[in-house]
Amino acid sequence: MASLRLVKVSKSYGNVRAIKKIDLQVKDGELMVLLGPTGAGKTTTLRSVAGLEHPEEGEIYIDEIKVNDLSPADRDVAFVFQNYSLYPRYTVFDNMASPLRAHGIAKDEIEKVVRKTSDILHITHLLQRKPEHLSGGEMQRVALGRALVREPKVFLMDEPLTNLDAKLREEMRAQIKRLQKDIKATFFYATPDQAEALSMADRIAVLRDGEIQQIDSSSKIYNHPVNMFVASFLGSPGINFISCGYKKGGILDVGPGIFNVTLSPSQREEVERKVVQPQLVFGIRPEDILVNKENYSDWINSEVDVVELMGSWNVLSLKIKDCFVKARVPADFEVEMGDKVKVKFNISKIHLFDSSTEKAIF
Ligand SMILES: Nc1ncnc2c1ncn2[C@@H]1O[C@H](COP(=O)(O)OP(=O)(O)OP(=O)(O)O)[C@@H](O)[C@H]1O
Ligand SMILES: [Mg+2]
Repeated sequence: MASLRLVKVSKSYGNVRAIKKIDLQVKDGELMVLLGPTGAGKTTTLRSVAGLEHPEEGEIYIDEIKVNDLSPADRDVAFVFQNYSLYPRYTVFDNMASPLRAHGIAKDEIEKVVRKTSDILHITHLLQRKPEHLSGGEMQRVALGRALVREPKVFLMDEPLTNLDAKLREEMRAQIKRLQKDIKATFFYATPDQAEALSMADRIAVLRDGEIQQIDSSSKIYNHPVNMFVASFLGSPGINFISCGYKKGGILDVGPGIFNVTLSPSQREEVERKVVQPQLVFGIRPEDILVNKENYSDWINSEVDVVELMGSWNVLSLKIKDCFVKARVPADFEVEMGDKVKVKFNISKIHLFDSSTEKAIF
């Protein structure tokens, strides 16, 4: 296995700048997730690493060897394509065996590796079938299997689980992660699914409009997003944003005029050090809002507008004067539309952004 490094890599299609000066490093044995919405440039980045696209600018290193001028075959990467393409005339077994045959591996060994990989992916019962007799999710797992039988320097995976149902997808996330750790493989894995990224990644690189926004561990990205885009792209239901102003003495005037939040001394220091303009955005994740039916005098008055049952928890849409926020509460917290409840914000978990640059103040 090997490390992967991109230095200021840019790729345009005509006048569309698909990726712009991408800088990132995937360490040897690391699972790095490239997370971003549709059109962000994930496939373009992966295809550039594989040698299927030629960036007009920047360098790509695999194992610290510059590969820009190497053919795809000489880069020794395994690619799971977003639009998985299988050999239609081959059986599943032969599809999975083909990369091993191409490397002259012995028949017994091929048999062993294909069986082991197909067991992990739950496709052993399909080994004798041809792709035309498979469902989309089965084809996707065969494509994944065809990559996983090999031991390339780097695995490149472009949304390999998108066609699976939710239950299988969750199981596959865990299986892939375990396999990746077992074989100490280097994975560069693209997905638009924030839950998949959070659950699988050693580190996440968030991509927007071809530009990297933040590269960090899952918990850092989730708890300390660098800007409003990253804050809103991760988490479900998403973070609440409300305009606010800053009043001397460490008070946020949220709404403005809806409610006040008193900052901690360290938060206050950050604001006074960084804030140059008065327009700010207050951010709070739904799980960081405390909701209570008791009439605590120092909590904020609100009214339940909508209750969404999610199974193990509920999402409440709460009305605080003219402002709506979503809060996540335990499933046994029983309330109905129109109920009066009190809310309080977990002060250590609040976020504050500059509204013009959208950058985080803390
Ligand atoms: N062959 C192409 N010709 C022209 N424009 C392209 C081409 N491939 C991609 N693009 C454009 O480049 C940008 C990035 O596309 P890319 O496929 O890399 O995004 P993505 O993050 O993989 O999206 P998705 O999640 O939908 O797969 C988009 O604006 C897209 O329209
Ligand atoms: Mg794509």
